[in-house]
Amino acid sequence: MIRAIVLAAGKGKRMKSSHSKVLHEICGRPMLWYVLEALRNAGIDKIVVVVNDELAEQIDGFGVAGVLQSERLGTGHAVRVALERLDPRPGGRIVVACGDMPLVTPELFRTMTVSLDGDAGNAAGMALVTVKMPIPSNFGRVVRRGDAVERIVEVSDATPAQLAIDEMNAGIYAFDEDALREAVTQLRDDNAQAEYYLTDTVAHFVSAGRPVRPVLATDHLDVLGINDRVELARARKEMNARLCAKHMREGVTIVDPDTTYLEPELEIGGDSVIYPNTTISRLSRLGRACVVGPNTRLSNARLGERVAVRESVVIDSAIGHDVSVGPFAHLRGDTLLADGVHVGNFVEIKKSSLARGAKVSHLSYLGDATIGEETNIGAGTITCNFDGEQKNATIVGRDVSIGSNTSLVAPVKVGDGALTGAGSVVTKDVPPGERVAGNPARPLPKK
Ligand code: UD1
Ligand code: MG
Repeated sequence: MIRAIVLAAGKGKRMKSSHSKVLHEICGRPMLWYVLEALRNAGIDKIVVVVNDELAEQIDGFGVAGVLQSERLGTGHAVRVALERLDPRPGGRIVVACGDMPLVTPELFRTMTVSLDGDAGNAAGMALVTVKMPIPSNFGRVVRRGDAVERIVEVSDATPAQLAIDEMNAGIYAFDEDALREAVTQLRDDNAQAEYYLTDTVAHFVSAGRPVRPVLATDHLDVLGINDRVELARARKEMNARLCAKHMREGVTIVDPDTTYLEPELEIGGDSVIYPNTTISRLSRLGRACVVGPNTRLSNARLGERVAVRESVVIDSAIGHDVSVGPFAHLRGDTLLADGVHVGNFVEIKKSSLARGAKVSHLSYLGDATIGEETNIGAGTITCNFDGEQKNATIVGRDVSIGSNTSLVAPVKVGDGALTGAGSVVTKDVPPGERVAGNPARPLPKK
């Protein structure tokens, strides 16, 4: 069984933030979320996160256990604190990862643990991920003798010759648990930073004759550690590019991935087309062949098939099939649009439902309204849903014709097949089939 320790107790001083570094978000999730996700996708579910005080209060939300490291005495000390909280499993495997490395992949964790086990009977003490990176870099340098890794030297302890080494320690490791438990008791803090370095376990294993297996990361971005907001932006860009690529490979056309902002856990049906300057977030789900954007924001939005949302905002709302929205529409607060609905330009709809085939084409506000099938809401129609004290409902039946510039003063009902003339101010219920007009609206003579 493989268990994981995620190091996240650092304050992240260079973020210049009042919040823990690993809680800063990229693409809609805290960076720690991505690390945990990568571990779980590598089949590692038993995870302990080494936390500081602030993170301790929030760690439950991540579905993992937190261990408080009250004094920040280095990565080796952090692992020791975590091991005290994990019941010993002789023969077990422990992966150590950093909470500030959101682009890390499940494949990297898998490759590393496979490498630890090696050929039968040749298990190593540890495997570690190394990476070729441009100098200067703050990463620890991997010192080799021949092919074998001999030790890791931190930048603050390195000689000029060691600083010239371009193979770096990524900060991700897999350990034989028994070997790790023994090694962390041997760490000393006699170095430039007076910290217990987890990286000193390398030299410890080498001198004890235990193999240390390096795994070279093929993409240095996979192990990009976030230390400041410049790196945060770089990681976001890369993560977004990866998210876009995933959907494009599954059959979604993204016209410009650089200006399309996605999050994990979205569903976008095949043959959908996303135009530039579009943000899709919060578990939104889009059916097949949708057209979204440009300049559109979908947040917790559900779209059926063949839905077009152009230059609009849809938040916490659900839309059926064959619907068109926009340009410049704003749907929010549990709005429901059934199949075949049309919402045109400059229309705001809040907490309302429109039944099949209903249309509201121009310059309207519908709030707390229920609109029946095939009803047409004329240009400039407003539901006056707030009476100064509370929100009131407007209920409009099916096949209703609401004339341009009608004010529907809620609470009010308009029956099936009724009609309101242009400019009506409807203050009383309109029975089915009735035609009303005026301010206040009164029945028109029968035709
Ligand atoms: C560490 C490695 C370095 C490697 C680099 C990669 C050591 C001594 N050095 O350096 O070789 O190239 O990562 O990113 O390990 N943390 C704690 N408690 C502590 C100290 C750190 O939880 O007491 C956490 C931090 O929050 C962070 C991670 O451990 O997530 C790494 O710590 P950091 O101080 O960033 O180490 P580096 O100096 O970057
Ligand atoms: Mg670091």
